[in-house]
Amino acid sequence: MLSKIYSAGLYGIDGFVVTVEVDARENFAAFELVGLPDMAVKEAKERVRTACENTGYLFPELAYMVNLAPADRRKEGTVFDVAILVGILRCAGAIDPRSDLSDSCFLGELSLSGELRPIRGVLCMCAAARDAGLRRVYVPRENAAEAAAVRGIDVYAVGSMRELIAHLNAKEALTPTCPPDFEEELSSISLPDLSDVRGQAMAKRAMEIAAAGGHNILLIGPPGTGKSMLAKRLPSILPPLTFEEALQTTKVHSVTGLLPAGESLLIRRPFRSPHHTMSAVSLVGGGINPMPGEISLAHNGVLFMDELPEFPKQVTDGLRQPLEDHAVTITRANGRATFPCSFMLVAAMNPCRCGYFGHPTRPCTCRRGDVARYLSNISGPMLDRMDIQIELPSLTYEEISTPDPDAETSAVVRERVIKARAFAARRMAAVDAAQGEPPHNDATDAPLCNARLDPAGIHRYCRMDADAVQLLKDAYENLGLSARGHDRILRVARTIADLEESDIIAAHHVAEAIQLRSLDRKYWS
Ligand SMILES: Nc1ncnc2c1ncn2[C@@H]1O[C@H](COP(=O)(O)OP(=O)(O)OP(=O)(O)O)[C@@H](O)[C@H]1O
Ligand SMILES: [Mg+2]
Repeated sequence: MLSKIYSAGLYGIDGFVVTVEVDARENFAAFELVGLPDMAVKEAKERVRTACENTGYLFPELAYMVNLAPADRRKEGTVFDVAILVGILRCAGAIDPRSDLSDSCFLGELSLSGELRPIRGVLCMCAAARDAGLRRVYVPRENAAEAAAVRGIDVYAVGSMRELIAHLNAKEALTPTCPPDFEEELSSISLPDLSDVRGQAMAKRAMEIAAAGGHNILLIGPPGTGKSMLAKRLPSILPPLTFEEALQTTKVHSVTGLLPAGESLLIRRPFRSPHHTMSAVSLVGGGINPMPGEISLAHNGVLFMDELPEFPKQVTDGLRQPLEDHAVTITRANGRATFPCSFMLVAAMNPCRCGYFGHPTRPCTCRRGDVARYLSNISGPMLDRMDIQIELPSLTYEEISTPDPDAETSAVVRERVIKARAFAARRMAAVDAAQGEPPHNDATDAPLCNARLDPAGIHRYCRMDADAVQLLKDAYENLGLSARGHDRILRVARTIADLEESDIIAAHHVAEAIQLRSLDRKYWS
């Protein structure tokens, strides 16, 4: 007797459908499992047998051959337990052999008592099952909300094997889990608000520009001026996640098993704040079975590197390639996994170890050489990738003691950010249409933001008036800008113009962009 049941495996953030073939023969008792299983999959034999007996079925003593196809892909973890037991019980007749399981997928680990245990990566596996044309997926109860975020496939939450068998034998009905109402959940988010930050008008303006163009930003200043506070408020002024973005970000979290039980889609933009003692692998991703790192967990959100100079240089330098490519590829003998990592980098730092270098009233207690050494922990290429650098001065007593009743809330700033991004999209589409060219894009399918414009993109989309050209030329010659520095100023100037809904970059846009890039000359020259 042969039965064929569908399940799914995981590689990177991609699921793939696995066919579990169970062949059962009489005469003697045996259990053979093939198809590149890892140790956890091999141990399924023991879990399946005990779970079966504790569910109230005598485990049929037959010669079983279980094949997980495609046989050339590694199978990991415990996700195939349920499918294997369903296959066995179908061979043995405990599940009606006439029941049609040809469009069903079974995911889940079994406990010895026959309960279904949650697994990681359910969202990715459900999406793969749907893409392969399957119509139903049975998942552990704790994973049902997450699975239901995939549209176009019915998700059944299952507590135990007993419940599942009764359902498959048409003795007990299960109702599909309702998909989450994405829009409704979005409207329920509350985040720390920008209006909590007093003073720091320049820095707030810089954050708004960064949010509008997706620019990386470096905040420098003495202790207690609101750097960390401001960074934490960046998600509140970014546009809300789109459904597609939420799906992608949730997939990354799903494969790491970090999604809280019962949680469906992640509806907040991630804000990840890795500690400087973190290893390069935890930050960028890696491992024998490749796992996403912090930068991928920050996909479509913010990566906040507080106390940037404290991060070892080889760790920060590991960010250079992902910052350009918006994806990390990890190659292993059995294949390679690509994890998306499109994030905004916000870094914060003091200008020196004591924190008061350059302070107007408080003396810096560092030795001169120490300041330079501290600052040199940030490499030139890393500094180059921060489009905007801004200094947060100490607050005056008036600023800290009197709340500003007119302080703008995050909602107001976010409206402007959304408007600027929409304007930029229209502007770029108009250029494409006029030139009769397809959109100029980078490797990702995400809508292009100004921060991502490469030299060809800058040439195409950043038009300046004559005064702006002259100003940029003067700055290039007098400030000793590099070609990279020139491009960076143009990208930021483009965003500033978008905030004003101006098609053409004018001199005052360039002037502000230059101002937002003056700190490397102050501290690193
Ligand atoms: N601009 C500000 N407006 C309101 N409160 C502030 C401001 N700056 C600092 N504070 C208060 O000081 C605390 C510390 O601020 P924050 O952590 O943002 O400082 P920081 O600049 O990151 O300092 P450090 O360099 O030590 O990390 C905040 O929790 C807040 O109570
Ligand atoms: Mg801080």
